Formats: sequence, C-alpha cells, structure tokens
Amino acid sequence: MKKRNLITCALPYANGPVHIGHLAGVYVPADIYVRYLRMRGRETLFVCGSDEHGVPITIAARKEGCTPQDIVDKYHALIKQSFADFGISFDIYSRTTSATHHRYAAQFFRKLYEEGKFIEKETEQYYDPEAKVFLADRYIVGTCPKCGNPDAYGDQCEKCGSTLSPEELINPHSKVSGAEPVKKKTRHWYLPLDQYEPWLREWILDGHKEWKTNVYGQCKSWLDGGLQPRAVSRDLDWGVPVPVEGAEGKVLYVWFDAPIGYISNTIELLPDSWETWWKSEDTRMIHFIGKDNIVFHCIVFPSMLKAYGDGFILPENVPANEFLNLEGDKISTSKNWAVWLHEYLQDFPGKQDTLRYVLTANAPETKDNDFTWKDFQTRHNSELVAIFGNFVNRAVVLTHKYFGGAVPAAGTLQDVDLEALAQIPLLKQEIEDNLETFKFREALKAAMNLARVGNKYISDTEPWAVAKTDLARTATILNTSLQLCASLSIAFAPFLPFSVEKLDRILNVAPLPWDDLGKAELLPVGHQLGKAELLFSKIEDAEIDKQVKRLAAIKAARLAS
Ligand code: MF3
Ligand code: ZN
Repeated sequence: MKKRNLITCALPYANGPVHIGHLAGVYVPADIYVRYLRMRGRETLFVCGSDEHGVPITIAARKEGCTPQDIVDKYHALIKQSFADFGISFDIYSRTTSATHHRYAAQFFRKLYEEGKFIEKETEQYYDPEAKVFLADRYIVGTCPKCGNPDAYGDQCEKCGSTLSPEELINPHSKVSGAEPVKKKTRHWYLPLDQYEPWLREWILDGHKEWKTNVYGQCKSWLDGGLQPRAVSRDLDWGVPVPVEGAEGKVLYVWFDAPIGYISNTIELLPDSWETWWKSEDTRMIHFIGKDNIVFHCIVFPSMLKAYGDGFILPENVPANEFLNLEGDKISTSKNWAVWLHEYLQDFPGKQDTLRYVLTANAPETKDNDFTWKDFQTRHNSELVAIFGNFVNRAVVLTHKYFGGAVPAAGTLQDVDLEALAQIPLLKQEIEDNLETFKFREALKAAMNLARVGNKYISDTEPWAVAKTDLARTATILNTSLQLCASLSIAFAPFLPFSVEKLDRILNVAPLPWDDLGKAELLPVGHQLGKAELLFSKIEDAEIDKQVKRLAAIKAARLAS
C-alpha cells in the first residue's frame, strides 16, 4: 500500500455560490473518503481552492459593473465559508489569484515553452469589435438555423439540441456588446495532445481498467475519436499572463492554469515539503470531480504533467460522479434552479449532516439522480431520526434512568446479544470495501444498517419492560446497546461529522479510531455517560412546503418571462 494519499477536489469557479450538486458530486464524497483515511491513520493531504480565472468571471463583472477581482473576492469568501460550514475538511482551500499560484503556473508554462513542448499557431477567431475581446463560441448568440430559436449559442441550440458552429447562426451577435462579430487573426500556444495519445492509451485503457465505467468509457471515446492539439492560451486581460515576450494581452487558458492550482495550493501550504506529495512514487493521488471535468483530469492534466516530467506523479483514480438534478430539472446557476448551501443553512440551521446524509444516500454515482425535498424529509425523519437517533436515545435515556448514567456490567450474553454484536465486524468490512472502491452510497447503507441492528436489538429485547423484573438482564442489554452506540460513533464519523461529535458528547468519549470498530468494551463498565440529548429533530411538513413553494415560484417566474 502506498504511504501517502493526495486527495484533490475540482476547484469550483468563483462566479457563483455552491449548491447541492457540487456537494453531492464532489465535495461530500471526497470528504468522506479523507475522513476515513485519516481515521485509519493513513497520511493524507486534502487540497482544493477557488478557480478564479476564465471568461465567465469577466462577463459576470461586466454585467454587475465591477471588476473581476471584486467578483472572485465575493464568491471565494462565500464558497470557502460554505465548505467550512458543511465540514469539508480541506487541509488548504486557496485560490488561483494567489501570488503563489500566478508564480507557479507561469513557471510551469515557461518550462514547457522553453523545452519546445508547445506548438504555436495563428488562427482566425471571432472578435467583438466594440468590446474589443475575442469571443468563445458560447458568447456568440443568434437564431438557430434548424428551429428558429432566436437565442441559440454559437456552439449549441438549447431549444432543439443541435450542435452548431458560429457560422451557422442567423444574425450572429456578441453576447458581450451585441455587436456583430468579425474574424481576426491571433497567435496561440497549443499542447499537441495527439503526440500523447499512444501513451495515454496505454496508461488509461490498458493500465486503469479499474476506473469507474463512466470515466473509463469517456476516456476511451475521446481517445478513439483522436486527440487534437489544444490551445493553452487565450486573448483576455484576466488570468495568468503568458510569461513570454510578445504575448501582451494573452493569458493562460483557464483549464491550463486551474489544475496547476492543485500543485500551487500544496506549495502554499507546504513550501518546503510539497514535492514529497507530488513527486514521490509513494503518493497515491485521487481527483474527485464531476463528469464534465473528466477529459481535463484524465487526459489534459496528465499530459501536462507528463510533458513537464521531473518526477510528477499521475492520478491513480478519478472517481467522477454524474449529475444531481433538482426536482426533475437540471440544476442551473443562471436559472437560479438550485439549493444554495448558504441559503439551506439559514433555513435548516444545524442540519448539515442531513444534507450530507441525503446527498450520499442518493449520490449520482453511476447515473444522474434527482434531489427532491420529499425524499430529503423522508430520509431524515424515517432514517436519521427514527432509526439512528431513536436507538441512541433509548439506550442513553434508559441507562440514566436505571443506572445513573454509568455503563452497567453485562452478565452472560444471550444469543440475541451475540448476534447483534456479531454484525459489527461484518458491517465494518462492508463499509471499508465500499469506501476503498468509492461506493459511498453502499458504504453509508452499511453504516445505517448497523444503526438498524441496534434499533431492532433494543426493540426486540425491550429493556424498559425487562427492568420491571430483572435489572441484571437490563444491565446486559444496555451494556450491549451502548457498545453498539459507540460503534456507530466510529462507523458514521466519515459521513456525519457533526452528529458524531454530538454523539461523542452524549457518550462522553473522545473520537475513536477506525480500528476500534468491532472491538469489545469500547465503553468500560462504570464509564459515565454525558447528558442525553436528541441526535436529530424531526423535519416538519411546513418546512418542506416552504422549499417546494420557493422552487415553484422560481419556475413560475421563468415561465412568465
Ligand atoms: N472550475 C472547474 C469547474 O467548476 C473545475 C476546475 S478543476 C481544475 O468545472 F482541475 F481545473 F482545477
Ligand atoms: Zn434550434
């Protein structure tokens, strides 16, 4: 087994707040994985930050009448806070406008440039003569030649789904200024991905058959389609300036600089030892991303690292997820069709774990999935409250009632006790096997099954009824129940950090390491429990109605406009 784990999460664009889709697809699974590794005592570094360059940020600034720096300052702070609020336990969350990143990304480009790893090409590109900017296809709009939609984009018509090129649009105009685009010559640097194709085929198609089918399949179809040289620079005044002479007005393409952010953020955190994470065969690097990022993390960034050489390692796995929809429709920042994390917390203060739980239980691991408020409520009330919370509460309250809150001694264990305890190592193994293979839904299900075991055990053995006649047997049942509660604190720790913190307070224990799961006597006889409190409180219909109404109003407004 490799010594170190370098875990990265896609750097979110700092042009809007983060929503449940981000959390479900990337940040919660990565955080579960990292918490699990740390609990196992494996050396782990968890790196992320904001992606603050690119055209959308300049457009947002133009729209809001401020500078791109204002936009990224605002959203970087908001995003960083949301991740902290949801317990995403990054070792560093930095940003690509940092001085360290600008310096390192420029250096990275320069080395490749000097070693002749790029090709230079002059091409004609669309240009907005009024705003004086080159236009990506997405920023040219016009009428769709196929269906007449007046708002088709230069790359696609969202109404009829046709793939388009800007030439095909009727009455094309710039989204930035409204002017008609003209063609203009420009020079750029390209990474000749075609040269890396044989190597990529071998590395991925032969070497990584264990990658998720969606990831492997996308790589295969890119490779089978043939790779083309990819531009690594843009004509833009926002980004990392191209560090060569005669490149005024040009910056690194955002998809070139952003993944380098994983490296520069590591440098920022560990200026003296970052290379042990990035250049050692003893490091296992895993990228957590959404499916729209696969090509960049499996093909482009590895080719950049390969071109750079100097001992850089490549990812061992890229467990990309599919997308999460919201109440049947695609989540969309521009259409405000989302559940924003900072707004969720205002409406459901203290319920971070509910969202972590629901998004994991319903994670879009193998196909797109749907988030509905009804499902959110049901999972919270009938799983977290009725099973996990209820079990812990009964065990703790009864211990306070009959034994003054001190763990009572168990007598001879009966079959029913032994059977319940025997489930712990089995479910532990199931959680491990699933986490090690990035199957977070299944892993969570196994943890919840352990709570089910406890809840069924205490219902079947009825310590409250037994207490009327046999306090010694009650002691055995509660001892067994409390050992199960302590096991739950370990099993759920990667998934529900806030609730486990509370559970540890209730049990009056320090966080337990993973390997204690399944060990006997986690709570010694006589150990004094903390105060009983409810782990989860019920979510009422009115709270859910409010969310459903909010979404209905957004949809109505959209249809009316
Ligand atoms: N900002 C990109 C997105 O949200 C992800 C960048 S990932 C990185 O899709 F590797 F480039 F950093
Ligand atoms: Zn169309």
